[in-house]
Amino acid sequence: MMITEEQVRDALRGVKFPGFSRDIVSFGLVKHIAVTGRDVAVTLQVTTRDSSVPQRIEEETRAALARLPGVGRVDVTMQAQEPPPSVAPVTGAPAGPPRIPGVKHVIAVASGKGGVGKSTVAVNLACAMSQLGAAVGVMDADIYGPSVPKMMGKLDRPTITDEKLDPVENFGLKMMSMALLLDGSSPVIWRGPMIMKAIQQFALAVNWGRLDVLVVDLPPGTGDAQLSLVQTIALDGGVIVTTPQDVALEVARRGIAMFEKVNVRILGIVENMSYYVCPKCGHHDEVFGRGGGRREAERLGVAFLGEVPLFTEIRIAGDRGVPVVLAAPRHPAAQAFRDCAEAVRRALGTSR
Ligand SMILES: Nc1ncnc2c1ncn2[C@@H]1O[C@H](COP(=O)(O)OP(=O)(O)O)[C@@H](O)[C@H]1O
Ligand SMILES: [Mg+2]
Repeated sequence: MMITEEQVRDALRGVKFPGFSRDIVSFGLVKHIAVTGRDVAVTLQVTTRDSSVPQRIEEETRAALARLPGVGRVDVTMQAQEPPPSVAPVTGAPAGPPRIPGVKHVIAVASGKGGVGKSTVAVNLACAMSQLGAAVGVMDADIYGPSVPKMMGKLDRPTITDEKLDPVENFGLKMMSMALLLDGSSPVIWRGPMIMKAIQQFALAVNWGRLDVLVVDLPPGTGDAQLSLVQTIALDGGVIVTTPQDVALEVARRGIAMFEKVNVRILGIVENMSYYVCPKCGHHDEVFGRGGGRREAERLGVAFLGEVPLFTEIRIAGDRGVPVVLAAPRHPAAQAFRDCAEAVRRALGTSR
């Protein structure tokens, strides 16, 4: 029985890029497939600084091809190369993609799963950095569930200047989001290449102007948007948001592994919904078991950026469209976010 190239390609689609949910075919690593009768030869090409990546891909590719019914000889050629050392090694940014002109630092806020308060943390971090004197933008890369404009209290349509989108501004911060471009309720089905295009546009076809920091709110998980982002622009660091319980920490670990695989420096972990302070008696209730984020950061050797308690005010502020950092700067919630922002600034190694 003959084996077809399509069968080979299908088998290769089962091999994921380590740390990501995306497969090596859609990632473009498969350079050549040759089928001679029952014998299969494939050539893969990968650019990475982590030597374990090509090795793992090669092993998994061999295993996937060996499972093809009736397969004969399996030949896998791996062409691994290091990215050119063109970017200062101190930033740890990936060497391939360009920087956004005029933008000093790009940081991505990620979490392994939804609902941990990633967008809330991203928006309040951005506002806190703005209060500290930085020019800040927020890029909402959560294409499926964009929530930044609502939290930032402005849903205007972006204008266009010189064929690029102008970010919408509120509270002195700039933002871009799919929520500003799409009409509300109709659900949109996003496929990999469309997500790639949207992320590229948000990064490179937006008039961000001069920014000290661009905060990117990533969708949960380790899929297309994450990979598209790291392939499109140089990132200066990743912030992982987690809640304290073990399941959340498990997915936080995956987020960290993802950044490491693509050479993005981890700025640290923020523990959100750390504990609940009873507004009546001041009692601290550790709903999800506080301290998991700090322990995990220590275990993984990354910075612990701070803990943000559960406060009703945080949710109300988000729903109202004025982040708590701006709505109630004296509230302990605002202080918690400012502490995290200071820690991020320290981790970035910049005074602004
Ligand atoms: N520390 C917190 N205290 C109270 N509510 C919070 C806190 N962090 C997030 N929330 C609320 O939890 C919900 C989910 O947060 P969101 O930032 O949208 O999560 P994600 O982006 O991870 O899906 C929102 O209603 C938000 O206001
Ligand atoms: Mg979100």
